[in-house]
Amino acid sequence: MAWMCKRKYVIATVLTVAVSVFVMVNYTEKTCFLLQLVFGQHKPSKAHSGYVSIPDQEPLKLYCDVCSVVSSSGQMLGRLAGPEIDSASCVWRMNNAPTRGFERDVGRRTTLRVVSHTSVPLLLQRQQHFFGQANDTVYVIWGPLRNMRRDGKGIVYNMLRQVMDSYPQARIFVTTEERMNYCDRVFKEETGKDRIQSGSYLSTGWFTLILAKDMCKEIRVYGMINNTYCRTVGYKKVPYHYYEAGSRDECAEYLLHESAPYGGHRFITEKSVFAKWAKVHPMKFFHPTWLVS
Ligand SMILES: *[C@@H]1O[C@H](CO)[C@@H](O)[C@H](O)[C@H]1NC(C)=O
Ligand SMILES: *[C@@H]1O[C@H](CO)[C@@H](O)[C@H](O)[C@H]1NC(C)=O
Repeated sequence: MAWMCKRKYVIATVLTVAVSVFVMVNYTEKTCFLLQLVFGQHKPSKAHSGYVSIPDQEPLKLYCDVCSVVSSSGQMLGRLAGPEIDSASCVWRMNNAPTRGFERDVGRRTTLRVVSHTSVPLLLQRQQHFFGQANDTVYVIWGPLRNMRRDGKGIVYNMLRQVMDSYPQARIFVTTEERMNYCDRVFKEETGKDRIQSGSYLSTGWFTLILAKDMCKEIRVYGMINNTYCRTVGYKKVPYHYYEAGSRDECAEYLLHESAPYGGHRFITEKSVFAKWAKVHPMKFFHPTWLVS
């Protein structure tokens, strides 16, 4: 009898263990899934309704783990950051900043480009290169309503429509009016200054970092100077853009803009806001390095 009791005991134990394991696995799977949803470990590409495709107005869907955001500054020159930039899950660039000929310093890949309405004509000069078959770069164009309106009177929107006619597979998105207003509101909240009353324009860098904060789990910015750089004794003078050798020195350009009574970018003010964001968002700055505490 003793051996039968033992056998029953063994079977019961095995059953109990099996059921517990089943419950546990199921439970942890569900918990993991819930945790992933809550903490975004495994985020599906979220729809960003502030950016809509041309011409269908579908929201932009993209999610990146680590984003390399490559500045167009002359600071990029000679840094040999290309391989590090390309190793991120997504590589973001601005306006028409080229890679060819600068690969060692700025990398080769381009996942997404944020482009000012004023730079669209520069892209149009090389349509095949930027929008041709085989190019899966996502283009996000920002601009004021007067240029971006879809009623036939938006001059930049019309140009982009034509690109889509010639290159139907191109991935072009425009910032909605609501999103443009949001970017203005963020400027006012962060600086206390009204963007329009202070006579300034937001920069492509501003729109880029606002989008990156939504889309990237971690942001690594390359080649952007901080807000005190141009006041630092003996700072390194570089061209404003890495691809325009001999252009005005970056700091001279920044100081000119910062003090322009009308129509300037407030690059230096924007940088101090970025430093604030870096305290609460995984955002790091390289070449030159920012010390953010
Ligand atoms: C696609 O466009 C990017 C610029 O956004 C360019 O750097 C890249 O070389 C192009 N790729 C192809 C395959 O033409
Ligand atoms: C800003 O840049 C200057 C020049 O590179 C550097 O000396 C300073 O430490 C930087 N400040 C911060 C907060 O990163």
